[in-house]
Amino acid sequence: MTSPAASSRSVVIEASNIWKAFDHGRIQVLQGAGLTVHRGETIALCGASGSGKSTLLNIIGGLDAPDEGEVRIHGRIPRTTEDRTRLRRATVGFVFQLHNLIPDLTLVENCLVPALAAGAQPRDRLERIHHLLEATGIRHRADRPVQELSGGERQRAAICRALVNEPSIILADEPTGSLDEASGRQVLDLLFDLVARDAATLVMATHDRAVAERCDRIVVMRDGRTL
Ligand SMILES: Nc1ncnc2c1ncn2[C@@H]1O[C@H](COP(=O)(O)OP(=O)(O)OP(=O)(O)O)[C@@H](O)[C@H]1O
Ligand SMILES: [Mg+2]
Repeated sequence: MTSPAASSRSVVIEASNIWKAFDHGRIQVLQGAGLTVHRGETIALCGASGSGKSTLLNIIGGLDAPDEGEVRIHGRIPRTTEDRTRLRRATVGFVFQLHNLIPDLTLVENCLVPALAAGAQPRDRLERIHHLLEATGIRHRADRPVQELSGGERQRAAICRALVNEPSIILADEPTGSLDEASGRQVLDLLFDLVARDAATLVMATHDRAVAERCDRIVVMRDGRTL
């Protein structure tokens, strides 16, 4: 049997010569970074703290714009903020470094946020949400405010939220960074499982070599460049 990655090699993400500075050009972060990712591939983005991993993920996912360079998603270049927002909502699921869950909303309500942003009716997404909560072992927490959840449960909640809209691209920023080794492995198993099931493309920033080695390919960043 051919894997999804092998059966279709269409390019899903093509970021080329990406430059990004903050603080009116005083902090030059990305300096010609580039990344090409095919459908179904899993990529680990490694590199020292401050090398630009989160900044590159944010630009690929359309949360931020590059100063120079191009990002193509499924062959399209989003040029305006509106383009980026539309494309992101339709195509990208984010697992953020700090979860970014809304503490006093319940688990299900948090998962509904990206669905509503994409214009879906809540009732059309509830089945998928419950399926994701079941698959990640947190369904019994569905109606609890996320502030009551443990770190591992929140990390799994963040993965569920990222997958609600069945994104073709999942961008995960240190998805196991705050977890102990065993919980981290468990969360990662779930993430890889769900990604494979949807034949999605995963780009994951991580400091952890063992985590990185589970991906098809490791891309190292240094000083704002991809090596
Ligand atoms: N909005 C911002 N304003 C100013 N500086 C920023 C901003 N975002 C990032 N930076 C700076 O850009 C550099 C790269 O940050 P980034 O978060 O991309 O690194 P990273 O590789 O993800 O690091 P870590 O492994 O610690 O998460 C850092 O020096 C950071 O301080
Ligand atoms: Mg980061």
